[in-house]
Amino acid sequence: MRIPFVAGNWKMNTTVTEAETLVYTMLDQLDNIAGIEIVLCPPFVSLLAINMMLKDFPIKLGAQNMHFELKGAHTGEISPLMLSELCEFVILGHSERRWYFGETDEIVGKKVKAAATNKLKPIFCVGERLEENETGKTKEVISRQITTALADIESVPGLVIAYEPVWAIGTGKAASSEQAADTIGFIRSIVKKIWGKDIAQNLRILYGGSVTSDNIAEFVSQQEIDGALVGGASLKAEEFLGIVKQSAVIKGKSI
Ligand code: PGA
Repeated sequence: MRIPFVAGNWKMNTTVTEAETLVYTMLDQLDNIAGIEIVLCPPFVSLLAINMMLKDFPIKLGAQNMHFELKGAHTGEISPLMLSELCEFVILGHSERRWYFGETDEIVGKKVKAAATNKLKPIFCVGERLEENETGKTKEVISRQITTALADIESVPGLVIAYEPVWAIGTGKAASSEQAADTIGFIRSIVKKIWGKDIAQNLRILYGGSVTSDNIAEFVSQQEIDGALVGGASLKAEEFLGIVKQSAVIKGKSI
Protein backbone atom coordinates (compact mmCIF):
# COMPACT_ATOMS: atom_id res chain seq x y z
CA MET A 1 0.00 0.00 0.00
CA ARG A 2 1.39 3.37 -1.00
CA ILE A 3 0.59 6.20 1.42
CA PRO A 4 -1.00 9.08 -0.49
CA PHE A 5 1.11 12.21 -0.72
CA VAL A 6 0.29 15.88 -1.30
CA ALA A 7 2.98 18.55 -1.44
CA GLY A 8 2.61 22.31 -1.78
CA ASN A 9 5.28 24.06 -3.83
CA TRP A 10 5.06 27.72 -2.85
CA LYS A 11 7.72 28.73 -5.40
CA MET A 12 9.02 32.33 -4.99
CA ASN A 13 6.01 33.46 -2.99
CA THR A 14 5.49 34.59 0.64
CA THR A 15 7.70 36.59 2.97
CA VAL A 16 8.53 34.87 6.26
CA THR A 17 5.59 36.62 7.92
CA GLU A 18 3.19 35.60 5.14
CA ALA A 19 4.49 32.03 5.23
CA GLU A 20 3.90 31.83 8.98
CA THR A 21 0.37 33.18 8.56
CA LEU A 22 -0.43 30.67 5.83
CA VAL A 23 0.80 27.74 7.91
CA TYR A 24 -1.02 29.03 10.97
CA THR A 25 -4.27 29.22 8.98
CA MET A 26 -3.96 25.61 7.80
CA LEU A 27 -2.47 23.92 10.82
CA ASP A 28 -5.50 23.00 12.90
CA GLN A 29 -7.35 21.43 10.01
CA LEU A 30 -4.35 19.64 8.54
CA ASP A 31 -3.63 18.14 11.93
CA ASN A 32 -6.91 16.18 11.82
CA ILE A 33 -6.13 14.38 8.59
CA ALA A 34 -4.57 10.95 8.99
CA GLY A 35 -3.11 8.43 6.61
CA ILE A 36 -1.75 10.92 4.10
CA GLU A 37 1.69 12.51 3.91
CA ILE A 38 1.49 16.31 3.67
CA VAL A 39 4.57 18.32 2.75
CA LEU A 40 4.91 22.11 2.62
CA CYS A 41 7.72 23.58 0.51
CA PRO A 42 8.14 27.28 1.32
CA PRO A 43 11.08 29.43 0.15
CA PHE A 44 14.47 28.74 1.84
CA VAL A 45 14.25 31.82 4.09
CA SER A 46 11.10 30.51 5.77
CA LEU A 47 12.28 26.95 6.39
CA LEU A 48 13.55 27.57 9.91
CA ALA A 49 10.43 29.44 11.06
CA ILE A 50 8.09 26.83 9.57
CA ASN A 51 10.20 23.99 10.93
CA MET A 52 9.58 25.37 14.44
CA MET A 53 5.85 25.78 13.78
CA LEU A 54 5.48 22.20 12.57
CA LYS A 55 7.38 20.60 15.47
CA ASP A 56 4.31 19.09 17.13
CA PHE A 57 2.40 18.38 13.94
CA PRO A 58 2.64 15.46 11.52
CA ILE A 59 3.08 17.84 8.57
CA LYS A 60 6.43 17.69 6.85
CA LEU A 61 8.70 20.26 5.34
CA GLY A 62 10.54 20.39 2.03
CA ALA A 63 12.87 22.78 0.21
CA GLN A 64 12.43 23.73 -3.44
CA ASN A 65 15.98 23.18 -4.68
CA MET A 66 19.57 22.64 -3.51
CA HIS A 67 23.14 22.43 -4.82
CA PHE A 68 24.73 18.99 -5.15
CA GLU A 69 27.97 19.97 -3.35
CA LEU A 70 28.10 19.87 0.44
CA LYS A 71 29.93 23.18 0.88
CA GLY A 72 32.33 25.57 -0.78
CA ALA A 73 32.59 28.56 -3.08
CA HIS A 74 29.07 28.54 -4.57
CA THR A 75 27.75 32.00 -3.76
CA GLY A 76 24.02 32.06 -3.17
CA GLU A 77 23.55 28.29 -3.14
CA ILE A 78 22.17 26.03 -0.39
CA SER A 79 23.67 22.61 0.33
CA PRO A 80 22.15 19.24 1.28
CA LEU A 81 23.92 19.46 4.66
CA MET A 82 22.21 22.75 5.44
CA LEU A 83 18.81 21.42 4.42
CA SER A 84 19.08 18.14 6.26
CA GLU A 85 18.93 20.02 9.59
CA LEU A 86 15.72 21.73 8.58
CA CYS A 87 13.61 19.53 6.37
CA GLU A 88 12.95 15.99 5.21
CA PHE A 89 12.15 16.58 1.51
CA VAL A 90 13.57 18.57 -1.38
CA ILE A 91 11.99 19.26 -4.78
CA LEU A 92 14.55 18.51 -7.50
CA GLY A 93 14.42 18.93 -11.26
CA HIS A 94 11.36 21.16 -11.27
CA SER A 95 10.76 22.36 -14.83
CA GLU A 96 11.24 25.99 -13.78
CA ARG A 97 14.75 25.04 -12.62
CA ARG A 98 15.39 23.09 -15.81
CA TRP A 99 14.13 25.73 -18.24
CA TYR A 100 14.80 29.08 -16.51
CA PHE A 101 18.00 28.14 -14.71
CA GLY A 102 19.57 25.72 -17.17
CA GLU A 103 19.52 22.56 -15.05
CA THR A 104 20.35 19.61 -17.26
CA ASP A 105 19.40 15.98 -16.65
CA GLU A 106 22.99 15.43 -15.46
CA ILE A 107 22.82 18.26 -12.91
CA VAL A 108 19.45 17.03 -11.64
CA GLY A 109 20.91 13.51 -11.39
CA LYS A 110 23.79 14.79 -9.24
CA LYS A 111 21.30 16.54 -6.99
CA VAL A 112 19.19 13.39 -6.58
CA LYS A 113 22.31 11.44 -5.57
CA ALA A 114 23.44 14.19 -3.18
CA ALA A 115 20.00 14.17 -1.55
CA ALA A 116 20.08 10.39 -1.16
CA THR A 117 23.48 10.43 0.54
CA ASN A 118 22.43 13.21 2.90
CA LYS A 119 19.18 11.74 4.20
CA LEU A 120 16.95 14.04 2.17
CA LYS A 121 13.99 12.60 0.27
CA PRO A 122 13.74 14.01 -3.25
CA ILE A 123 10.46 14.98 -4.87
CA PHE A 124 11.98 14.43 -8.28
CA CYS A 125 10.10 16.19 -11.10
CA VAL A 126 9.92 15.00 -14.69
CA GLY A 127 7.78 16.10 -17.61
CA GLU A 128 7.68 17.00 -21.26
CA ARG A 129 7.31 20.41 -22.92
CA LEU A 130 4.39 21.24 -25.19
CA GLU A 131 6.26 20.66 -28.46
CA GLU A 132 7.56 17.34 -27.15
CA ASN A 133 4.04 16.34 -26.23
CA GLU A 134 2.67 17.39 -29.60
CA THR A 135 5.36 15.52 -31.51
CA GLY A 136 4.80 12.29 -29.57
CA LYS A 137 8.07 12.49 -27.60
CA THR A 138 6.64 12.41 -24.07
CA LYS A 139 7.82 8.90 -23.20
CA GLU A 140 11.23 9.38 -24.77
CA VAL A 141 11.83 12.59 -22.77
CA ILE A 142 10.63 11.14 -19.49
CA SER A 143 12.57 7.96 -19.94
CA ARG A 144 15.75 9.98 -20.52
CA GLN A 145 15.12 12.22 -17.50
CA ILE A 146 14.58 9.25 -15.19
CA THR A 147 17.34 7.05 -16.53
CA THR A 148 19.94 9.82 -16.33
CA ALA A 149 19.03 10.61 -12.74
CA LEU A 150 18.53 7.12 -11.32
CA ALA A 151 20.41 4.57 -13.38
CA ASP A 152 23.74 4.55 -11.55
CA ILE A 153 22.48 4.62 -7.98
CA GLU A 154 21.22 1.58 -6.10
CA SER A 155 18.18 3.22 -4.56
CA VAL A 156 17.00 6.57 -3.23
CA PRO A 157 15.24 6.06 0.13
CA GLY A 158 11.97 7.94 0.37
CA LEU A 159 12.04 9.03 -3.27
CA VAL A 160 8.83 10.48 -4.69
CA ILE A 161 8.48 11.20 -8.42
CA ALA A 162 6.23 13.99 -9.70
CA TYR A 163 5.01 13.86 -13.29
CA GLU A 164 4.52 17.47 -14.27
CA PRO A 165 3.91 18.17 -17.96
CA VAL A 166 5.53 21.59 -18.50
CA TRP A 167 2.54 22.82 -20.54
CA ALA A 168 0.22 22.17 -17.59
CA ILE A 169 2.21 24.10 -14.97
CA GLY A 170 0.64 27.40 -13.98
CA THR A 171 -1.47 27.48 -17.15
CA GLY A 172 -4.83 26.37 -15.77
CA LYS A 173 -4.72 23.65 -18.42
CA ALA A 174 -4.23 20.39 -16.50
CA ALA A 175 -3.56 17.09 -18.25
CA SER A 176 -6.50 14.70 -18.36
CA SER A 177 -6.44 12.19 -15.53
CA GLU A 178 -6.28 9.30 -18.05
CA GLN A 179 -3.29 10.89 -19.78
CA ALA A 180 -1.56 11.48 -16.43
CA ALA A 181 -2.28 7.93 -15.23
CA ASP A 182 -0.95 6.49 -18.49
CA THR A 183 2.33 8.42 -18.23
CA ILE A 184 2.67 7.59 -14.54
CA GLY A 185 2.22 3.89 -15.36
CA PHE A 186 5.01 4.33 -17.89
CA ILE A 187 7.23 6.02 -15.25
CA ARG A 188 6.64 3.04 -12.95
CA SER A 189 7.69 0.67 -15.73
CA ILE A 190 10.96 2.60 -16.23
CA VAL A 191 11.72 2.49 -12.52
CA LYS A 192 10.95 -1.24 -12.57
CA LYS A 193 13.55 -1.74 -15.29
CA ILE A 194 16.15 0.17 -13.27
CA TRP A 195 15.45 -1.01 -9.71
CA GLY A 196 13.07 -3.97 -10.01
CA LYS A 197 9.45 -4.71 -9.24
CA ASP A 198 9.34 -4.17 -5.47
CA ILE A 199 10.77 -0.66 -5.48
CA ALA A 200 8.66 0.32 -8.49
CA GLN A 201 5.46 -0.95 -6.87
CA ASN A 202 6.10 0.92 -3.63
CA LEU A 203 7.20 4.18 -5.22
CA ARG A 204 4.85 7.14 -4.85
CA ILE A 205 4.26 8.96 -8.14
CA LEU A 206 2.35 12.25 -8.17
CA TYR A 207 0.69 14.34 -10.82
CA GLY A 208 1.43 18.09 -10.91
CA GLY A 209 0.25 20.93 -13.16
CA SER A 210 -2.77 23.17 -12.51
CA VAL A 211 -4.15 20.95 -9.75
CA THR A 212 -7.03 22.58 -7.85
CA SER A 213 -9.69 21.49 -5.39
CA ASP A 214 -12.01 21.20 -8.41
CA ASN A 215 -9.94 18.67 -10.36
CA ILE A 216 -7.94 16.77 -7.69
CA ALA A 217 -10.65 14.10 -7.33
CA GLU A 218 -10.22 12.99 -10.95
CA PHE A 219 -6.50 12.54 -10.51
CA VAL A 220 -6.45 10.68 -7.22
CA SER A 221 -9.32 8.45 -8.37
CA GLN A 222 -6.78 6.91 -10.72
CA GLN A 223 -5.16 3.97 -8.97
CA GLU A 224 -1.74 4.82 -10.49
CA ILE A 225 -1.71 8.40 -9.15
CA ASP A 226 -0.63 8.61 -5.50
CA GLY A 227 -1.23 12.31 -4.95
CA ALA A 228 -0.24 15.73 -6.23
CA LEU A 229 2.45 18.37 -6.33
CA VAL A 230 0.49 21.60 -6.09
CA GLY A 231 1.78 25.06 -7.03
CA GLY A 232 -0.60 28.03 -7.20
CA ALA A 233 -3.44 26.34 -5.29
CA SER A 234 -1.14 25.57 -2.35
CA LEU A 235 -0.91 29.29 -1.55
CA LYS A 236 -4.59 29.45 -0.63
CA ALA A 237 -5.35 27.69 2.64
CA GLU A 238 -8.88 26.58 1.71
CA GLU A 239 -7.81 25.30 -1.69
CA PHE A 240 -4.89 23.31 -0.32
CA LEU A 241 -7.00 21.87 2.49
CA GLY A 242 -9.63 20.87 -0.07
CA ILE A 243 -6.99 19.09 -2.14
CA VAL A 244 -5.55 17.26 0.87
CA LYS A 245 -8.95 16.23 2.24
CA GLN A 246 -10.29 14.93 -1.05
CA SER A 247 -7.07 13.00 -1.67
CA ALA A 248 -7.32 11.37 1.74
CA VAL A 249 -10.99 10.45 1.34
CA ILE A 250 -10.66 9.11 -2.20
CA LYS A 251 -7.65 7.00 -1.20
CA GLY A 252 -9.74 5.52 1.62
CA LYS A 253 -8.29 7.40 4.61
CA SER A 254 -10.30 8.90 7.46
CA ILE A 255 -10.47 12.65 8.05
P1 PGA B 1 0.78 24.73 -10.57
O1 PGA B 1 2.32 24.36 -10.35
O2 PGA B 1 -0.03 23.88 -9.63
O3 PGA B 1 0.69 26.20 -10.21
O4 PGA B 1 0.46 24.47 -11.99
C1 PGA B 1 2.71 23.04 -10.09
C2 PGA B 1 4.20 22.97 -9.90
O5 PGA B 1 4.90 23.76 -10.53
O6 PGA B 1 4.70 22.13 -9.13
